Amino acid sequence: MLQFSKVEPKNYAGDLLVYLVRQSGKGAPRCGVGMVDEVLRRVHALGDFSGKEGEHLLFYPEKTKQGVFAAQRILVVGLGKEDFSQELFRKAGGTIVSLAMKSKARDLLLVAPDLDCDLTEMVEGLSEGLVLGAYRFRKYKTKKDADGPGEMLQQAALYSADRTGTGKAIKLGEIVAQAACRARDMANEPASHWTPSHFSEYGRQLAAAHGMTCTVLTQARLKKLGMGGIVGVNQGSACPPEMVILEYAVKPSAPTLLLVGKGLTFDSGGISLKPSAGMEEMKYDMCGGAAVLCAMQAVAQAKLKGLNLVAIVPATENLPGPAALKPGDVITQYGGKTVEVVNTDAEGRLILADALAYGIKKYKPDMVIDVATLTGAVIIGLGHHHTGLLSNDEDLCEQLLAAGARSGEPLWRLPLDPEYTKQLKSEIADIKNVGKKDGGAITAASFLKEFVGETPWAHLDIAGTAWDFTEKSYIPKGPSGIAVRTLFDFVRKWKK
Ligand code: BES
Ligand code: ZN
Ligand code: ZN
Repeated sequence: MLQFSKVEPKNYAGDLLVYLVRQSGKGAPRCGVGMVDEVLRRVHALGDFSGKEGEHLLFYPEKTKQGVFAAQRILVVGLGKEDFSQELFRKAGGTIVSLAMKSKARDLLLVAPDLDCDLTEMVEGLSEGLVLGAYRFRKYKTKKDADGPGEMLQQAALYSADRTGTGKAIKLGEIVAQAACRARDMANEPASHWTPSHFSEYGRQLAAAHGMTCTVLTQARLKKLGMGGIVGVNQGSACPPEMVILEYAVKPSAPTLLLVGKGLTFDSGGISLKPSAGMEEMKYDMCGGAAVLCAMQAVAQAKLKGLNLVAIVPATENLPGPAALKPGDVITQYGGKTVEVVNTDAEGRLILADALAYGIKKYKPDMVIDVATLTGAVIIGLGHHHTGLLSNDEDLCEQLLAAGARSGEPLWRLPLDPEYTKQLKSEIADIKNVGKKDGGAITAASFLKEFVGETPWAHLDIAGTAWDFTEKSYIPKGPSGIAVRTLFDFVRKWKK
């Protein structure tokens, strides 16, 4: 999306010239360009613009005087006065692109401000914000939205006096943001258009495009392997289950990270049917699977070198039907543990348990991260601003919390003591799939913990953040693409 421009801002004769300014302690904000600063002084004196974060000023420079700007419009966006962070620039990128799309601009030139911060971080943040903020899902709209954005923006260029390292920063920002947008696309698709086989198709495409290996375990194979969780959950569905496995190998000596994502393409609750109000949102129950596949896409495209990766997406629908699992049924998970299925709506943990146990046995990873829209309870606890993090490993948590914070996708750790596991005792099987209502996000994670053994493991419950995530300029309504950028950052910055 973003390209370099050699054209000096003054000579840029395009549609929209963009400056970023800090809010000053006293006086008007400045960008260091005489004519713009003059306008800023006047507008600041009126009290209309002070450079607060997210604030903006759009004006139309005079064409008649000599030495004036050639651009049609000038946009000044405030950066506030808080400390610099990549998130600040990501949000600025989102603000710029949404304002550009609201106007009739077809192209823009963004002038990198001369600030006392890491230039590559700034450029990467801007690049991410522009791509993430430009996202729209219009596939099923037959007409242009009359009141909506003009959506005419076709080109965005960056002008920077110093370009050191910025080419790579633009590219990396774009790669990860595009991957997150892909995850949003998958989630936006109606459940009938994003079925388990779409997951395997995407896995195969990624493998072919980026030199990875993709294996798909089909229903017969899943049955043979004894994966009673995914096979059981699938019993009410007309689409067979698929387990997609994608491998990204850098070098044998590097540690291996296993990613597992819940790919429940529609969760009706099964026989323990959900209420109909809001059930349509359960097409989003595959956001964990989308996140891990799209994180693999970004890692492979950026050719990150630190870790070998394996991603597993257990994919199925959860529907009622004549053959569906019934409350009280007992299933056998991969590896032999038996589970009494007290509630067929607690299906995510059943398909994840098979994937986790299988992935750990087969790939012997050094660490595991699973991502899942697992519980309504995590929304009660954390709302829509933090992803729930539950883990058996301090170091893994620390690095994930840091990755989430850098990515603007904050995580909040919840406890995972043995006390919670007691709620899962079953009278007739090894364990049951639900505990009491209280602490539901933790009992769900406690269930998963039974299948990871001693392997360092972290579970991200994204039920509150996969859609309706914190309102910000680069996060659209609907699916957020959560966890793609956190996982990418985790892999990139991972330290032994
Ligand atoms: N997919 C849901 C969790 C969910 C709920 C995600 C709301 C996003 C928004 C999951 O499969 C589920 O139904 N969980 C149950 C578990 C309960 C039966 C123990 C829940 O959270 O109600
Ligand atoms: Zn459910
Ligand atoms: Zn579910």
